[in-house]
Amino acid sequence: MTTDAQILLTCTGVTKSFPARHGARVPVLAGIDLTVHAEEVLLIRGRSGAGKSTLLSLLGGLDLPTAGRVQLTGYPAFETLSTEALATVRRARIGIIFQRFNLLPTWTARENVEAALLHTPVPPAERRARAETLLTALGLAERADNLPGELSVGQQQRVAVARALLNDPPLLLADEPTGDVDADTGAEIVAALLAQVGARGVTLVVATHGAFPLAAATRVLELRDGVLG
Ligand SMILES: Nc1ncnc2c1ncn2[C@@H]1O[C@H](COP(=O)(O)OP(=O)(O)OP(=O)(O)O)[C@@H](O)[C@H]1O
Ligand SMILES: [Mg+2]
Repeated sequence: MTTDAQILLTCTGVTKSFPARHGARVPVLAGIDLTVHAEEVLLIRGRSGAGKSTLLSLLGGLDLPTAGRVQLTGYPAFETLSTEALATVRRARIGIIFQRFNLLPTWTARENVEAALLHTPVPPAERRARAETLLTALGLAERADNLPGELSVGQQQRVAVARALLNDPPLLLADEPTGDVDADTGAEIVAALLAQVGARGVTLVVATHGAFPLAAATRVLELRDGVLG
């Protein structure tokens, strides 16, 4: 990454607090300034409860900051968009791998992957072809018709990776992608993820409390006391 690499996303003065008992608020993010450049692999580390998932949900437009601004280059700042417009931007530009996968339990692996392009103009035949390609690339071709509950945790995680990549997003957010698997399975998931990221020129932001290998990152930031350093 060079300093003049294309800027993909910026966060300016982002704070986030949540309502607590008796009208109090729990501060989680206390002024995040962050510039994400195209094609970097940015690792955000921090202990459990530091606010990593909270930050990723703001970067992905799933939630809005209490104050401050999150903006994808070429688009209006997230907080100025309607809920529908923000969802459209998200579906077009961002892939998200959730900490707990968020797979639909009654949908097959293939259906879960295809779900990323429901409510978009992409025709069903293309949706299916893209899902097939990704499932194959992630070693899941034989498991495409299984339900999540019939898959191992590592396989479920790879379904979540396929789903997040189906819309060919420039920005991929991965929350603890190797959190709940053994070291070998974690290494397989990282390898599969990085292969896809490299092949597609995707910018990857990973949040982890330690399981993701530092060597895979082009930049590492620590989230502590609500700020990045
Ligand atoms: N919707 C919410 N309402 C109230 N508090 C919340 C909410 N979401 C997160 N929090 C609080 O924000 C803090 C940060 O949570 P978050 O899930 O972002 O941490 P994390 O760094 O991802 O932790 P972990 O490594 O365990 O996944 C915690 O104190 C949590 O209780
Ligand atoms: Mg988390």
